[in-house]
Amino acid sequence: MQKTIFSGIQPTAIPTLGNYLGALGNWVSLSKEHRCIYSIVDMHAITVRQDPETLRRRIREVYALVLACGLDHDNTVLYVQSHVPAHAELCWILNNFAMFGELGRMTQFKEKSAKHADNINAGLFTYPVLQTADILLYGAGIVPIGEDQKQHLELARNIAIRFNGVYGDVFTVPEPVIPKMGARIMSLADPSHKMDKSDPNPAGYISMLDDKDTIIQRCKRAVTDSGGEVRYDPAEKPGVSNLMTIYALCTGQELEAVGRAFEGQGYGAFKTAVGEAVDSVLSPVRTKAAGLLEDPDALGALIAGGAERAKAAAAPVLQKVRDVIGL
Ligand code: AMP
Ligand code: TRP
Repeated sequence: MQKTIFSGIQPTAIPTLGNYLGALGNWVSLSKEHRCIYSIVDMHAITVRQDPETLRRRIREVYALVLACGLDHDNTVLYVQSHVPAHAELCWILNNFAMFGELGRMTQFKEKSAKHADNINAGLFTYPVLQTADILLYGAGIVPIGEDQKQHLELARNIAIRFNGVYGDVFTVPEPVIPKMGARIMSLADPSHKMDKSDPNPAGYISMLDDKDTIIQRCKRAVTDSGGEVRYDPAEKPGVSNLMTIYALCTGQELEAVGRAFEGQGYGAFKTAVGEAVDSVLSPVRTKAAGLLEDPDALGALIAGGAERAKAAAAPVLQKVRDVIGL
């Protein structure tokens, strides 16, 4: 039987080039050959305080952007998580199969607790259980993600195996798909950290809605090491290596070919070329997203349609879970 693919993205900010190269691009290529279900995970977003109006707007913007990456709305289920109450219900059930200790070991929980020390709430703690519910609800066998989500996937697998151990083969045990190149695009301002859409310093990222001038400026100002050689060496030259990865992915070339092409040229010419390559990938997405956002009624209809299809897809697994546990 063909495997189902599931993945999600938080509507906390406009997605970045890192989201695109690490995840969204993969979502689109997988959607050409598989049954794919993708979610704008707004319930995950509220584990950190959000301004209601901004959140409402972002959900629609991110929905439009994901669609604009090239998904075919008729053949892919794209929906907003909070429109499908089954997620919250399954999350509650799975909370009883997730251990306090294992949740406390999650790197993202530790990082977010440090960042939001005044609001270490229970939702932040059980965030990965909601993520597990997302995946298991649809019987997904494959989950395309960036490197940072690997630990959450491992937890989802453990919860599924634990539950199946008690109740029989209810859940499909999911496997992550992490791209070989681009799984961790680094910040342009500090190549020791990942590019993050919630980075307070905008010099660190390229948002998928940035215009060409901004993209070129960000690339030109990207932090690079001293010495002007364009050579791939993540340990010694993390800044240049990150830009080479970005360039290679945006132009479909191998890293060696990129190194050869820019041999003997300074950083200046290379950085401008990176900016041009990024813009050529993002500009059609930007135009398509703008078109979708221009017609709020049509977009609203797509979002509503996605919710209906996701609800129908989630119902059988939830019913089975209720049955086996005696609810
Ligand atoms: P998030 O922005 O946390 O909602 O992440 C959505 C998807 O993008 C997840 O699959 C992440 O692993 C992926 N992702 C986020 N940041 C990066 C990055 N800097 N490089 C590669 N993938 C990323
Ligand atoms: N936690 C993921 C992130 O921050 C987003 C997410 C939520 C997700 N549910 C998911 C990713 C299910 C894959 C599968 O990137």
